[in-house]
Amino acid sequence: MNRTPVTLPGYVNLDLPDPPADRPYVLVNMVMSADGKIVIEGTEAGLGSPSDQALMRALRTNVDAVLNGASTLRKSGSSPELDDEALEALRIARGLGRTPLGVVLTRSGDLPLDTPFFTSDAFEALVFATDATAEGALGRLRDTPRPVEVVPEADAPAAMLRSLREQHGVRWLLCEGGARLNGCLFDAGLVDECFITVAPRVVGGDVTLTPVRGPRLASFAETWPLRLVSAVPNPDTDEVYLRYRVASERGVEP
Ligand SMILES: NC(=O)c1ccc[n+]([C@@H]2O[C@H](COP(=O)([O-])OP(=O)(O)OC[C@H]3O[C@@H](n4cnc5c(N)ncnc54)[C@H](OP(=O)(O)O)[C@@H]3O)[C@@H](O)[C@H]2O)c1
Repeated sequence: MNRTPVTLPGYVNLDLPDPPADRPYVLVNMVMSADGKIVIEGTEAGLGSPSDQALMRALRTNVDAVLNGASTLRKSGSSPELDDEALEALRIARGLGRTPLGVVLTRSGDLPLDTPFFTSDAFEALVFATDATAEGALGRLRDTPRPVEVVPEADAPAAMLRSLREQHGVRWLLCEGGARLNGCLFDAGLVDECFITVAPRVVGGDVTLTPVRGPRLASFAETWPLRLVSAVPNPDTDEVYLRYRVASERGVEP
C-alpha cells in the first residue's frame, strides 16, 4: 500500500479565540483506541504513534500551560516540554515562554516528588491541592521547589482555572488527562475544545478507562454536544485526528 504521511492540519497554529475573563480557554487532548479505551496495561504508552506525539507537541505550541490529573502524573509522569527547538522558537516568536507551565491537580497530595515534574529546571510547574488535602502531604509538597496553591474542594476545577487566569496569566490551557480530571472539567462546563486521536487498535476489557469519566452515566440532557472542526486520517499510521468544539450548553443540538 502507498502510505503518504499527512501534514497535521494547522495544529501548530490553532488561531484560538480570546479566553473568557475568568478562566483560560481550555483544550482537552487524548488518544483512544478504536473501541474507546485510553490505556493498555495501565498507561497510554503504546496507543499513540510518533505522529500522534508530534500532534501533542504541536498543540502545546499554542498554550500557556499544560494540565494533568495526579493519577496521570503518578502513572505516566507529566511534562509540558516540547522537545522540539523549532516549536520552542515559534513559541518565543509568539511571545510565549519556551515551555508551557506544567500544572497538576491533586486531592491526596500523594505525588511522585522525585520525577521531572518536581525536579526539572527545564520548565516551571505549579501544584493545585484542595482544602481536603492532608497537612502532612501539603507540607511535603511545600518542601519541593514547586509552588503549591490550595483551592476549595467543592469547586476545585473552576477555582484552579480562575487562579491560572487571574494570578498566572494563563490564557490558553491544554489538559492532557486523565479521564477523571477531564470528567470534572466537562462536568463544570469548563472545556472549549476536544482533540481526540483514534488509534487503530481494539483493546477490549470491561473496566478500562475512556477519555471522560464521571461518577455516573449522564442523562441525555447532561451530555455535551460537539461540533466537528476537522477530521484528518493519517494513512501512514491509520490514525484519525479529530478536533471538536464543545457546545456552550448541555443537551442541545451541536
Ligand atoms: N490515552 C490518553 O490520552 C491518556 C492521557 C492521560 C492519561 N491517560 C491515562 O489515564 C490514567 C489516569 O486517569 P484517571 O482518570 O485515573 O486519573 P487522572 O484524571 O489523571 O487523575 C485523577 C486524580 O486527579 C486529582 N483530581 C482530579 N479531579 C480533582 C478534583 N476535582 N479535585 C481534586 N483533585 C482532583 C485527584 O488526585 P489524587 O488522586 O492525588 O487525589 C484524582 O484522583 C493513567 O493510567 C494514564 O496513563 C491516558
